[in-house]
Amino acid sequence: LNYQVPRTRKEIFETLVKGLQRLEYRGYDSAGIAVDGPNKTTTDINGNTICLIKKTGKVKALDEELYKKDTLDLDEKLNTHFGLAHTRWATHGEPSALNSHPHRSDKDNEFVVIHNGIITNYKELKKYLINKGYEFESETDTEVIPKLIKYVYDNRENDSITFSTLVERVIQQLEGAFALVFKSRHYPGEAVSTRRGSPLLIGVRSEHELSTEHIPVQYNSGHFKEEVQEKNSHNRPDCSNAINSVGNGKAVEYYFASDASAIIEHTNKVLYLEDDDVAVVTKGELSIHRVNRQAGEDPVRAIQTLQMELQQIMKGNFDAFMQKEIFEQPESVVNTMRGRICFDSNKVVLGGLKDHLKEIKRCRRLIMIGCGTSFHAAVATRQILEELTELPVMVELASDFLDRNTPVFRDDVSFFISQSGETADTLMALRYCKNRGALTVGITNTVGSTICRETDCGVHINAGPEIGVASTKAYTSQFVALIMFGLMMSEDRLSLQERRLEIIKGLNVLPELIKQVLSLDLKIKAIANELYQQRSLLVMGRGFNYATCLEGALKIKEITYMHSEGILAGELKHGPLALIDTQMPVIMVIMRDACYVKCQNALQQVTARSGRPIIICCEDDSEMTKNAYQTIELPHTVDCLQGILSVIPLQLLSFHLAVLRGYDVDCPRNLAKSVTVE
Ligand code: G6P
Repeated sequence: LNYQVPRTRKEIFETLVKGLQRLEYRGYDSAGIAVDGPNKTTTDINGNTICLIKKTGKVKALDEELYKKDTLDLDEKLNTHFGLAHTRWATHGEPSALNSHPHRSDKDNEFVVIHNGIITNYKELKKYLINKGYEFESETDTEVIPKLIKYVYDNRENDSITFSTLVERVIQQLEGAFALVFKSRHYPGEAVSTRRGSPLLIGVRSEHELSTEHIPVQYNSGHFKEEVQEKNSHNRPDCSNAINSVGNGKAVEYYFASDASAIIEHTNKVLYLEDDDVAVVTKGELSIHRVNRQAGEDPVRAIQTLQMELQQIMKGNFDAFMQKEIFEQPESVVNTMRGRICFDSNKVVLGGLKDHLKEIKRCRRLIMIGCGTSFHAAVATRQILEELTELPVMVELASDFLDRNTPVFRDDVSFFISQSGETADTLMALRYCKNRGALTVGITNTVGSTICRETDCGVHINAGPEIGVASTKAYTSQFVALIMFGLMMSEDRLSLQERRLEIIKGLNVLPELIKQVLSLDLKIKAIANELYQQRSLLVMGRGFNYATCLEGALKIKEITYMHSEGILAGELKHGPLALIDTQMPVIMVIMRDACYVKCQNALQQVTARSGRPIIICCEDDSEMTKNAYQTIELPHTVDCLQGILSVIPLQLLSFHLAVLRGYDVDCPRNLAKSVTVE
């Protein structure tokens, strides 16, 4: 949304499309745009028209479509302009142009909306609105929102009602999770956005230094829970004092986005909205409103300066983001450790936890919660955390933890591990633990994310933006962050000093060892060449490397669509052995650690059934070379860090398999990077 700097429609398209492309990793089954301008189907309201263009498929397909619109003058200069764009990941209704966003109130596009999240009470609202004569055109939950705002508008008590009041009334009726941005022909040049549960930030760009670093929040006293049902209610909130104050009122542009990567090339000044904030930009002024102030609420939203740089979210010389991120791991693990480990004094300080350390040390148990790869980081570090903290450690998949209504106590410490910091299941588990009085700790990669903001304390893993849907560098950085937590907890335990020292030394040389593993890329590519036509791939191991098997199998499933299972070698004879024959490809992870002998037994069981295992093992292990069909030999490190090295060949293997099978590595079918719905 820009003020005072005229932009051509072409420039507006380019800004919106570029923003969508940066967000495409979050969803890519269809996309849409809404801009000011004539649309064939609409009739004019006071000269204001909104043109909607939607297309199934990736953002590229939408981009091509935009330039086919003969009704739009691409070179027309627009003074103040507010455009909307959205890339969808289907939850309700198949991917189609009709189901994609923006959704509209009616054929004249009086109100258009984009939505991230899920509206759980949409069926009731839809029924209500259909009874009132509103017609629906899509199968989505989102469509109730534009219909509802039109209903509130059609039943307004007077014509001076503000756009933000309409939105406030609408969100009173919504249940579920949402980040919403609204545009309307009745309020040209005005933008209204709001959130509950789903992330939303506002980027602010000014030609001048910002005149303030805070946006004060306005509180409205109205309760209008039942108002939608009550036509002509007089309970209208007072929004008359909207305050503003950004950018000396000059040449300001505002960007609403669910993720900073969409806007970073325009501005690094952002503010994060809180749940139920309603942000409005009108006549170049940003104001934030809420209905009813809650106890302890911060009455301002601070403008923060992001450290992210554009090149961090560009592919560089790599073919895919995932590949780039795999190869970034020597640096990303350094960034996780930077300023936190002193290799001279063997001290480890995690600034975000130090004030809570006493409380953590006194706790009854640690509960580690996450989904997907983040859960695997918990599995990978559980054993060393038990050893270094001498506490019971539970590892939990967020969804299952909630399904079981797991007992949680005030003296528990709960960790929420999440790359994005936005995963709905993990977030719900966080709120569940918080409600039961447990201390909550976030381990995230996204500064300002909901999990960051809602936890009592935490650690940013600082791996840098991760774009590839299949997580790689975030995993190894989560791994390192959790190990650092164990080291911090054990600093004053005499009996553990030798072990600590060994691990700290191991961390010091870790980046070098990761580079050595990455140099095996060609060999791994050759193995992928042999395997890519297979239907199935088993990955087996135990102890410190069990998580590697789960994570490796997940990578293979996610991007190659091959069936793959991570198998605990100790369970082999309890079932999986039945799968082994000369045809079934098996990868075994057998490192020289306490489980070495037991793993050898598993290997015997596989070779005795004519299996031909590919073994990931330590360098110079002749015993393994002898028994393997192929080996991938890794440098040796401390047992509890070995999983950081052993996962990398599987990351690379999944990447090469996916390329050979002809799939889009960064955008696997049916998956999204941030799953912000339960
Ligand atoms: C999705 C992604 C996975 C990720 C999981 C947890 O399923 O596709 O790659 O591991 O969510 O995400 P989080 O952001 O919480 O780590």
